[in-house]
Amino acid sequence: MWTPSDIAAFGRPAEKIVPLCYPHSYMSGTVLDGKKVSREIRDELRPRIDALRSNKRAPALAVVLVGDNPASQIYVRNKIKACQELGIRSIELRPAQDITTEQLLEQISPLNRDSDVDGILIQMPLPKQIDVNTLNLHLDPMRDVDGFSAYSLGRLVRNEPAPRACTPAGIMELLKRYQISIAGRRAVVVGRSDIVGKPIALMLLHENATVTICHSKTRDLAGECRRADILIAAMGRPAAITADYIKPGAVVVDVGVNRLTNEAEVVRLFPHDTGRLAGYAKNGSTLVGDVEPMAMQEISSAYTPVPGGVGPLTIAMLMANTVKLAEMRLLGKSAG
Ligand code: GUN
Repeated sequence: MWTPSDIAAFGRPAEKIVPLCYPHSYMSGTVLDGKKVSREIRDELRPRIDALRSNKRAPALAVVLVGDNPASQIYVRNKIKACQELGIRSIELRPAQDITTEQLLEQISPLNRDSDVDGILIQMPLPKQIDVNTLNLHLDPMRDVDGFSAYSLGRLVRNEPAPRACTPAGIMELLKRYQISIAGRRAVVVGRSDIVGKPIALMLLHENATVTICHSKTRDLAGECRRADILIAAMGRPAAITADYIKPGAVVVDVGVNRLTNEAEVVRLFPHDTGRLAGYAKNGSTLVGDVEPMAMQEISSAYTPVPGGVGPLTIAMLMANTVKLAEMRLLGKSAG
């Protein structure tokens, strides 16, 4: 196995190169570049934000971060930074980790009534004592920038306009902009979360895919996944989808963001990726999705890298939802 100094020196002794251990006829899938599409989406928002600013006021997003979850802190920081870059006003609330559901509702209620607030985002996950369903019931649907409220979810089920959850909406935007056809194709979603799995399954269904949702109790998960023309991996288990799960030529969307700190695992998953190995040597960790990276690159026809695939789109779609809600509030535009 490599030592950290091998890695730091980009060293890759020949006997340590791991041959691909599965049949593969595709050289390498097309990269679905989330960073590029995210830039495009943000650029398209700029004139709309300018119009709002010159006619009424800047769009405004309230961000509620409960407690001190380190990953959530980073996500929220990036969301606020994106607001600043685009000229969207952000309002930050930082309730303590031990806040009760009732106390949190008291903090959110004034935002629900504030005519200077267009969107309210409550960063997930929340501490265990908070009843998420109660929160989502009390959130004003006209400010539900995440599309998590019962009202928005009902509208999604019926394929009616309402804010859509940002990560699945970003995936759909990515597929659309890369002209990946969906109608009639078999889509398999692994993971059934309210934030990603369930909404993306519905969005794909509305585009006329034949959709299967898999989860922890699914029998023969590999067999189900191998039938997918479009495979969405969103179960939060590092590199759990391996070569035997991917049909040659499938489009693979990897929603997972998992931090790897085990050196042997990093070397096993990224044996040829010198940049990645150097990054690991420097930082002591690297990110991997829910799909084994080499398998995804070699077997798919197109795939989202981690990082740089789905991640950047979540924030772009949050900005888009905020602008849309502001246009509806301030310019009387319709939801469609
Ligand atoms: N946690 C992970 N993804 C999201 C998201 O899209 N919105 C919110 N509010 N929390 C999240």
